[in-house]
Amino acid sequence: MSRKKITVVGAGNVGATCAQRLAERDYADVVLVDIVDGIPQGKALDINQAGPVVGYEPNVVGTVGYEETAGSDIVIITSGFPRQPGMSRDDLLAKNKEIVGGVAKEVAERSPNAIVIVVTNPLDAMCHVAYDVTGFPRQRVIGMAGVLDSARFRTFLAWELGVSSADVTGFVLGGHGDTMVPVVSYTNVAGIPVSQKIEAGRLEEIVQRTRDGGAEIVKFLQKGSAYYAPSAAAVEMCDAIVHDQKRVLPCAALCEGEYGLEGLFVGVPVKIGAAGVEEIIEIDLTDDEKGQLQNSANAVTELVEALERV
Ligand code: NAI
Ligand code: 2OP
Repeated sequence: MSRKKITVVGAGNVGATCAQRLAERDYADVVLVDIVDGIPQGKALDINQAGPVVGYEPNVVGTVGYEETAGSDIVIITSGFPRQPGMSRDDLLAKNKEIVGGVAKEVAERSPNAIVIVVTNPLDAMCHVAYDVTGFPRQRVIGMAGVLDSARFRTFLAWELGVSSADVTGFVLGGHGDTMVPVVSYTNVAGIPVSQKIEAGRLEEIVQRTRDGGAEIVKFLQKGSAYYAPSAAAVEMCDAIVHDQKRVLPCAALCEGEYGLEGLFVGVPVKIGAAGVEEIIEIDLTDDEKGQLQNSANAVTELVEALERV
């Protein structure tokens, strides 16, 4: 079987879990890169050794260099830091801009045809960094956030209604931050609008819990942030690319006029297939949702402007 090649940069919680999930998919060899010598090599070896038990055989290589990444079909960028106590938002921006920019340069040189999936926060701003540094077309730079935020929304809704989350469709648009927009008007359970099943006040609480979804987990973990759902979300995007599934998923994509936004990465419904972002799907939103999306886009614009200062 001919396997694809997927590079995961950052062998921390999200990156290593992505590598594990990808190995279990069995459709791609995986290169796991980190800056800390020993970590990617050790984790790769460990993932390979689970193969005979779980039943997969792709080659997982761990490295602190980039030679092994050459010719990757997909590159997932998870390298970077979370915000530390005492660190300003601009400090984090500066640090992760440097990391994501450096990584994007290395991978673009060696994998000029790759599709890049950005995970590092602040997500929407880091998409701009990867897009600018790689020089790739907008189809091939995609941010992961909406799939995760929507999965959180769907989980909370399924729990509320006591139904399978498989039957809950819903998506979250906008930036990956406090201003994200869970789109209630398109959220349904097996086609039944969720607003018919959950009263407005309770629905608003679920929407707010979704917006706070990342922070809720940080509060429990104390050190570090979520990684099981984030890695599942990034790998779902890989599935759509590798199998050319034409999935419609909420992803951060560069809007060039769509939703009235110009030159901005923000979470929108995207058709995702072998070419990456094959279409940004425009949907009618209520006036309130349009206002929320604009508010969220304004917050992303502020971050992108701050990127130029740091
Ligand atoms: P982590 O701290 O466990 O892992 C980060 C890894 O990046 C570390 O192993 C570190 O050594 C590595 N690294 C740092 N600089 C590097 C460089 N120049 N080259 C290669 N590797 C380098 O963090 P975790 O939990 O894996 O999160 C990673 C990033 O993803 C964070 O920025 C986090 O905020 C973000 N994130 C984003 C989500 C989203 O929805 N977009 C969801 C979850 C996390
Ligand atoms: C999350 O939403 C930290 O962005 C990360 O869990």
